[in-house]
Amino acid sequence: MDARHWPAVEAIYAEGIAGGQATFEAATPSWEAFDQGRLRAHRFVCLDDDAVLGWATVSAVSTRAAYAGVVEDSVYVAGAARGRGVGRLLLDALVRSTEEAGIWTLQSSVFPENLPSLALHLGAGFREVGIRRRIARMERGPFAGSWRDIVLLERRSPVVGA
Ligand SMILES: CC(C)(COP(=O)(O)OP(=O)(O)OC[C@H]1O[C@@H](n2cnc3c(N)ncnc32)[C@H](O)[C@@H]1OP(=O)(O)O)[C@@H](O)C(=O)NCCC(=O)NCCS
Repeated sequence: MDARHWPAVEAIYAEGIAGGQATFEAATPSWEAFDQGRLRAHRFVCLDDDAVLGWATVSAVSTRAAYAGVVEDSVYVAGAARGRGVGRLLLDALVRSTEEAGIWTLQSSVFPENLPSLALHLGAGFREVGIRRRIARMERGPFAGSWRDIVLLERRSPVVGA
């Protein structure tokens, strides 16, 4: 992924936000903020010719040196392209690239209602760490005003640091 994909990436992100089951974010960021918050070496788009079907990135979870190999993933697929294996391709690409770079843990925070994302992550070797109760409140969208749980999932690489 690079800046030229941003309009399509942003549109897919906006679609995910509007659905109310993907994230607590209420709006898409600027390209600059998105670019700054996501590790450059681990950003992917899935393309059909030139059309972006979905995207995946990781963000650092901490600035502490000890946690340098722990990152949080984001995977978003366009509504019309869901359920066809695009999310699986993207998450597998993230797993490969992060392991090759020595990153040892991928984590994800998923709403319990987001069954496709739970299936996606469990299928990629993530385990459920636990449920964080009423961890934050939705600001906008169909669940505006409600405090929501998230399922914390993690995939500890079997190869990095083995
Ligand atoms: C979650 C999301 C990325 C999954 O991408 P996708 O391309 O639709 O998923 P895939 O077709 O690759 O399927 C991945 C797994 O989920 C399962 N799955 C897909 N849709 C499903 C559904 N509606 N219900 C239950 N399981 C589902 C598939 O069977 C597959 O499991 P398997 O590999 O074990 O067979 C996509 O639905 C999406 O973009 N949703 C909106 C944004 C979002 O919620 N992102 C995640 C934030 S945590």
